Amino acid sequence: MYTKEVMEHFKNPRNMGDMEDPDAKSKVGNPACGDMMETYIKVGEKDGEKYIEDIKFKTFGCASAIATSSVTTELAMGKKLEEAEQIEKKDIAEELGGLPKIKMHCSNLSANGLHEAIYQYKKKERMEISEDLERKHEIAQKTLEKTEEMREKHGLDEE
Ligand code: FES
Repeated sequence: MYTKEVMEHFKNPRNMGDMEDPDAKSKVGNPACGDMMETYIKVGEKDGEKYIEDIKFKTFGCASAIATSSVTTELAMGKKLEEAEQIEKKDIAEELGGLPKIKMHCSNLSANGLHEAIYQYKKKERMEISEDLERKHEIAQKTLEKTEEMREKHGLDEE
């Protein structure tokens, strides 16, 4: 059912865990299953451009959520913020050699977490926020609300 790439990232997730003093963080949820994810970023500056200097995640999700989060951190590491904003769930799934259709929604979680962390950073630094990133932020907020409602309804703890 899973590719060897998915299994490899699931068994040896990259960049998983807490980050001390992140420049920004995000919390997103997946209302389809109630899983949650936190993403932390540190932002550096090179030749006048901001880039992802470090990124970590914590997820309370399934094997696909862990594998997609792991590969998302690899894809985002070292990228300019504007490039990292463009990493979409299909890029993440492709990098993993594909995901079963029923598990594609899991890759939303990691893409949303990355976009939302960049949004929070740009907002904090009063940087210009594109319409696309604003839209992604609105979706992330709505889906987080729905996930929290869903977790409450089913009596799921946050951790
Ligand atoms: Fe919830 Fe995969 S089943 S993120």
